[in-house]
Amino acid sequence: MTTLISGGTIVSATGQVKADVLVDGETIAAVVAPGSTALGSDLASTVDTVIDATGKYVIPGGVDGHTHMELPFGGTNASDTFETGTTAAAWGGTTTIIDFAVQRTGERVQDGLAAWHEKAAGNCAIDYGFHQILGGVDDDSLKAMDELVADGITSVKLFMAYPGVFYSDDGQILRAMQQARENGALIMMHAENGMAIDVLVAQALARGETDPINHGLTRPWETEEEATHRAIMLARLTGAPLYIVHMSAKQAVATLAEARDQGYNVFGETCPQYLYLSLEEQLGAPGFEGAKWVCSTPLRSRAEGHQDELWRYLRTGDLSVVSTDHCPFCMKEQKELGVGDFSKIPNGIGSVEHRLDLLYQGVVMGEITLERWVELCSTTPARMFGLYGRKGVIEPGADADIVVYDPQGHTSIGYEKTHHMNMDHSAWEGFEIDGHVDVVMSRGSVVVSEGEFRGGKGHGKYLKRGLSQYLH
Ligand code: URP
Ligand code: ZN
Ligand code: ZN
Repeated sequence: MTTLISGGTIVSATGQVKADVLVDGETIAAVVAPGSTALGSDLASTVDTVIDATGKYVIPGGVDGHTHMELPFGGTNASDTFETGTTAAAWGGTTTIIDFAVQRTGERVQDGLAAWHEKAAGNCAIDYGFHQILGGVDDDSLKAMDELVADGITSVKLFMAYPGVFYSDDGQILRAMQQARENGALIMMHAENGMAIDVLVAQALARGETDPINHGLTRPWETEEEATHRAIMLARLTGAPLYIVHMSAKQAVATLAEARDQGYNVFGETCPQYLYLSLEEQLGAPGFEGAKWVCSTPLRSRAEGHQDELWRYLRTGDLSVVSTDHCPFCMKEQKELGVGDFSKIPNGIGSVEHRLDLLYQGVVMGEITLERWVELCSTTPARMFGLYGRKGVIEPGADADIVVYDPQGHTSIGYEKTHHMNMDHSAWEGFEIDGHVDVVMSRGSVVVSEGEFRGGKGHGKYLKRGLSQYLH
């Protein structure tokens, strides 16, 4: 099966070029100048299918490096299965996810990982890989980390928050970093001072402050900044590279930027919710409505200017990646667990479907360039998580994961309108997007076209990842 994507402008992390893309089977066979006769006089007449991309951008499929399908959390499970979540991702132009396999305290790492393979295998509409959450750092899990790396799970997430659930103390973090220094794994850190937060939460509840906004007020920026600083110091001490996930506080990113300026191998990720949404407007919505936006780290105050600063750090390069931290929960029976006690609201927002569209608004608003959009959503995550060459780039030999994006198109985000995630609401209700994901190709198969889903579960393959390209 051969396809020619013709007439479009290919946008990469480094530039734009008008060129046609020839896809043969699952991979890209050639990138040729329009009308080129290098591969025969009339390429369009020799291929099986032609996709007309005139006036549109042709970009590498999105790589979302941070999702949580079916995550057991807060007394319930994230509401997207691998099937529904990867289908929604495809609708939005994401062709690869990296989800977090979970080892809970007391569980064997290998068992947690096997459970994740079982959930995902045969159910994904797009390709997928895994990071591993280490919920208990001990001799066994440190040994298991070496096996993970050999098996293509080349990054582990540690938590400085959630005591009693996923929390690692400083000694455990130090040991995991020492191991990562040896085996090449990338340490991903949830950087919040969980011990201090738990005291603030108990004090707020004792005062009768139970509404969702208290989730944010009891996780002030100092708790993120302090943990970020501590994680960086431990990384410096051990020489291990560090990737801090879901950063929302401008002070924490300033600390990260300072360490980067000093030459340390530390990287930051943010998410669309921290760029667009705020503590006052969403988390502080009347009644229990704010529960829709309870996530950790929390949304930050617009009055304090975090959102503008995060856009700036995306431009300076101090924030390297935009992922979604997709962790959806319905209001009914899930978020509702926290009525009368904000600390019982399951933490997470669903966005896997909207990341490319939301970040493209940054281009429209003049916050980032087209090239930076592609770099943040596709190329850098592919490099960061050991997939580059196969993913994150349009060049011969790469997987044919390609999105045709129409800058003249329009997308109205809304539960009734464009929603494919398994949730009973949209955290992005009412967002009007300049731009539209027209065609999505995953390993040479068109999975979305003309407003129709043409893919299916089982198409997505497991990706054994290499080491992060930024570390070697
Ligand atoms: O609120 C969030 N972020 N939920 C998902 C779990 C995590 O910490 O990433
Ligand atoms: Zn986290
Ligand atoms: Zn997460």
